[in-house]
Amino acid sequence: MNILVTGGAGYIGSHTCVSLLETGHTVVVADNLCNSRADTLDRVKQITGKDVIFSRIDVTDEAAVNSLFADYSFDGVIHFAGHKAVGESVAKPLKYYRNNIISTIVLAEACQRYGVKRFVFSSSATVYGDNEVPFVESMPLLPATNPYGETKAVCERILIDAAKANPDWSVALLRYFNPVGAHESGLIGDAPDGIPNNLMPYITQVAKGKLDKLRIFGDDYPTVDGTGVRDYIHVMDLAEGHVAALDKLTSGVHVYNLGTGQGTSVLQLVKAFEDANGMKLSCAIVARRPGDIAECYANASKAKRELGWVAKRDLLEMCRDAWRFEKNFMGSCLHS
Ligand code: NAD
Ligand code: UFG
Repeated sequence: MNILVTGGAGYIGSHTCVSLLETGHTVVVADNLCNSRADTLDRVKQITGKDVIFSRIDVTDEAAVNSLFADYSFDGVIHFAGHKAVGESVAKPLKYYRNNIISTIVLAEACQRYGVKRFVFSSSATVYGDNEVPFVESMPLLPATNPYGETKAVCERILIDAAKANPDWSVALLRYFNPVGAHESGLIGDAPDGIPNNLMPYITQVAKGKLDKLRIFGDDYPTVDGTGVRDYIHVMDLAEGHVAALDKLTSGVHVYNLGTGQGTSVLQLVKAFEDANGMKLSCAIVARRPGDIAECYANASKAKRELGWVAKRDLLEMCRDAWRFEKNFMGSCLHS
């Protein structure tokens, strides 16, 4: 299939381009590079030996999106493009609502206009809110605790309604848990701008000596050891989940958790990182981070049952691959 990948120069998008190309799909990336660099796509080509067409456009720009759809005959769209920093979304909610929601509407309208019937959307486990674990797709969603999460819930709603009005559409709403790690080549990975918000890139930067110590946000949660529990999933497993969704989708809207189903605490992840890479990390327990929940992990059985997809890579692989990317590449390829 010929797939439009919006946000394909970003972290999850670039890994998904690798999976798509390796399974015989062709890829056109639309990205405005607001949180990525074009040379990531050169490394995607290096890994796969295949070409990627790149269009530097803003996918909220209706004219630019229409002209892309007119130029290429797409069989489907995977929509990754969006802003994703939870804290920034609280400070700049309009920036988040504008980018994340308008891009989804513009792309869905273009699909309607140009007869493109497959749409895969990057949603997030954040739409479950502080529900009971494990999170299962059929649960009623709780209100998001921040504008970023709200944009994901709104986009899901928009796509559900658009699919109702277009019964021949196949839409996948993929709720990601916590993507970590990098392609095993170490050529592409998570390259956050400035000080990372997320745990794994923070850990790799402490390991490299860029940051002095990991601050662990709270050790008094009702969890196995008091620290927050998340469902970490290797980004290549996540990427393969997109290919499975694209290949297996039938008409209608289908919601899938993409997680491992395993909860891991902050202290357990730190230990796994130390064991995987033979090093010791400097850590300090500090106060809870506002807005964090105690536990978040998936019931991942629906994706297994309906898509034949399961996450295969374990925590040690996630830690090894995250460190390989940081060690080899991050010095030279940080965002400006
Ligand atoms: P990322 O920032 O690395 O990638 C997003 C890409 O979209 C970037 O390359 C950016 O330049 C591009 N982009 C943003 N707005 C654009 C626009 N208007 N037009 C064109 N390009 C635009 O983020 P990521 O981690 O790869 O996340 C991809 C998607 O997955 C996002 O929608 C994010 O909300 C969602 N998600 C991510 C996580 C996570 O932990 N990384 C978890 C759940 C959901
Ligand atoms: N944590 C620390 N220290 C840090 C960073 C994080 O102790 O420096 C802890 C957090 O308190 C939490 C865990 O590590 O317990 C994971 O935190 P992340 O920031 O890596 O991830 P979150 O689960 O908070 O959020 C991520 C994405 C969101 C997405 C959500 C749900 O950043 O965009 O997963 O899938 F919505």
